[in-house]
Amino acid sequence: MTVLDFARRKRAGEPIVMITAYDALFAGLVDAAGVDAILVGDSVATALGGEGTTLSATVEQMIYHGRMAARGASRALVVVDMPFMSYQVSPRDAVRNGGRILKETGAGAVKLEGGAEVAPAVEALVTAGVPVMGHLGFTPQAVHQLGGPRVQARAQGALEKLIRDARALEKAGAFAVVLSMMPGRIAQKVTHVLSIPTIGFGAGPLCDGQVLVLTDMLGLSEADGAGGPKRYAELGAEVRETVARYAQEVRSGLYPGAGQG
Ligand code: KIV
Repeated sequence: MTVLDFARRKRAGEPIVMITAYDALFAGLVDAAGVDAILVGDSVATALGGEGTTLSATVEQMIYHGRMAARGASRALVVVDMPFMSYQVSPRDAVRNGGRILKETGAGAVKLEGGAEVAPAVEALVTAGVPVMGHLGFTPQAVHQLGGPRVQARAQGALEKLIRDARALEKAGAFAVVLSMMPGRIAQKVTHVLSIPTIGFGAGPLCDGQVLVLTDMLGLSEADGAGGPKRYAELGAEVRETVARYAQEVRSGLYPGAGQG
């Protein structure tokens, strides 16, 4: 799967399946399950690192996780998030950091957050040979500015701004854009005006593809009870029960039994 396949998929009306993974083990599993793209999201900071926001993620951490994920994937396109403040200061900074991420991980693209204001960074990256995925709507790196994780683009005039931002990213050379946490009809309109594919995250069914955070969809994270993304399994409960069974067997002398290691 390459960035060119993304455009082909949109033209053919074939949905793009993306999911996060942060290491070789899970990247290998989701790749074998047939996903099209693996996002090494800066959500690694919250999903695995126990942080409250994604702001602490560093270029070094993204390279470390990106390299592991790229090693695990053989077919899916691996996209690595550019962390907070690695591309906002200047296009030059963006190229230096994005170039390092691509070079040192073996990933096929980077993702960054924001609209028209980051278009010069996107253009500089693409000109330097670094494919870029955009990210609009709820952008977790702006969590403090946005007053928390909440549905975006509800206000009067929000659609027009979103379309301006999406077009700026497309013109700057982005090959796709994540539309995050917005009403489905808004995401549908943005999807309609773009020639590059949109990937929805809590943005309704009418985007060109969908992305989920692996730890949420597997039920490894705590359920927020607020009707968040679909949980396809409850592996967290299964891990707790399995480890509790092991602990109980050690304490009762059942493990190791005769002939067991
Ligand atoms: O970091 C991440 O996992 C993301 C997804 C929520 C799209 O950006």
